[in-house]
Amino acid sequence: MTRESHSTTGTHDAFPAPPPGCPAHGIGPGALHRLHEAEDLGELYEQLREQHGQVAPVLLHDDVPMWVVLGHTENLHMVRTPSQFCRDSRIWNPLLEGMVKPDHPLMPLITWQPICSHAEGDEHLRLRGAVTGAMSTIDHRGLRRHINRSTQRLVNRFCEEGRADLVDQYAEHLPMAVMCEILGMPDEYNDRIVEAARDMLKGTETAIASNAYIMDALMRLTVKRRAQPQEDFTTHLINHPARLTDEEVGQHLRVVLIAAYEATANLLANVLRVVLTDPRFRAQLSGGQMTVPEAVEQSLWDEPPFSAVLGYFAKQDTELGGQRIRKGDGLLFAPAPGNVDPRVRPDLSANMMGNRSHLAFGGGSHECPGADIGRAIAEVGVDALLMRLPDVELDCAEDELEWRQSMMSAHLVALPVRFAPKPPQDVLQKPGHASVPAQRATWQVGAPPTAQPSPAPATQPTVPPPPAATPTPTAAPTAPAAPEPARANGPWRRFLRWWRGN
Ligand code: HEM
Repeated sequence: MTRESHSTTGTHDAFPAPPPGCPAHGIGPGALHRLHEAEDLGELYEQLREQHGQVAPVLLHDDVPMWVVLGHTENLHMVRTPSQFCRDSRIWNPLLEGMVKPDHPLMPLITWQPICSHAEGDEHLRLRGAVTGAMSTIDHRGLRRHINRSTQRLVNRFCEEGRADLVDQYAEHLPMAVMCEILGMPDEYNDRIVEAARDMLKGTETAIASNAYIMDALMRLTVKRRAQPQEDFTTHLINHPARLTDEEVGQHLRVVLIAAYEATANLLANVLRVVLTDPRFRAQLSGGQMTVPEAVEQSLWDEPPFSAVLGYFAKQDTELGGQRIRKGDGLLFAPAPGNVDPRVRPDLSANMMGNRSHLAFGGGSHECPGADIGRAIAEVGVDALLMRLPDVELDCAEDELEWRQSMMSAHLVALPVRFAPKPPQDVLQKPGHASVPAQRATWQVGAPPTAQPSPAPATQPTVPPPPAATPTPTAAPTAPAAPEPARANGPWRRFLRWWRGN
């Protein structure tokens, strides 16, 4: 597996770095490590932990100093102590001292904006209250229905081909399709908006135009819903007692859309890769102990979709992980090293068994309010794909997979798969296939494993019942039966063999 290192925003660094392999590569003034030049961030984090403990001094682009918080407890302490740490970059010393130039590659992430992610205190309560208030109106049965329909549409686009790239054609589309539906603009979902979101996040030269394209759609939606309220997220955001202005509504729709898009696309791609390749996942499934939601949780521990979040800032002189932090210092909240802190995970190969105390969704007052939506998209997205393509398997060697890595996330570049071509299905149907119906009915997303009487042989593990929140199809499928999977070794076949204990 190759993890390519790129600068965080895809833009060029201000100074040419020494070439990889040179001893000076990745090291800056004060012998501090430049995070953005790391060839393997995971390895560097462990080196820093050994050298400095749970909070380490590092450098960002232009040798701007930063602390990276490596410990699980220390990350949680930081995000849960608003009296000492906040997300308001206007107090950051390097910014006040002019070290961070206007064209600094991290500027888009650092520049303070009047949005909930940067706000503090009463203003944070007001803005975040409107977002969580609007989210609380989302009906989760309806959400799962939208996700199922979107998966059907997406799979219909490539199921007859027998091949697909599950990053480009699936993981990057599903969250956008679902979020456009939730926000109340299903007609805006198309290849162009997915391309615009990708482009913005890569920070290419056209990122500004792509941002403008997305903002235009969101502002049109805001104006439309102000005039004609509907039963959707945007209308509830507008009507919330916090009385957001149109500008605030548009900016928060953007925060929600982009946060949801990037993180969920990463999570979905990661879980799909694990399903297709990881023997650990398969071995656990064979014991009947790991449901898809548990596999999603394991992925949130092992590969948090945001490996780091920029940033938190010290409101006063303080201490964290044995380091003296000065008022105005910046700190990276870092789920990736926090989740592998040896004090919480002495054995990294151990199954976390659905344990949700990872840092993938942050914590404290800024904790991700969309966690359940992200989880639902990943869970249903994985399950529905396997229902439609039971014989799907990786179409390259595992070590040919590549990641685009930045300080903030590791994004799988492509996940090529092959399968026997299948006919399209009616999008109103819950995903299904006709080849192994009896066995499939024993495996459901979203339900905790419970003991159930089963006619299966003693070697077959106990299976969870269908989830209450997942609508069950009432009619028999009208779509033509999928052909019997051509490959005996697809993940679906393997699941069945593991469950049966052979
Ligand atoms: C797997 C999917 C997701 C992951 C891993 C994720 C992760 C995160 C993280 C790490 C933060 C920052 C927390 C902090 O600063 O301490 C965050 C904030 C946020 N996320 Fe998510 N997120 C996901 C999906 C979503 C979805 C689906 C939505 C919306 C529907 C969403 C909306 C937000 C918002 C609005 C914030 C800012 C909250 C605030 O500052 O008060 N996220 N998310």
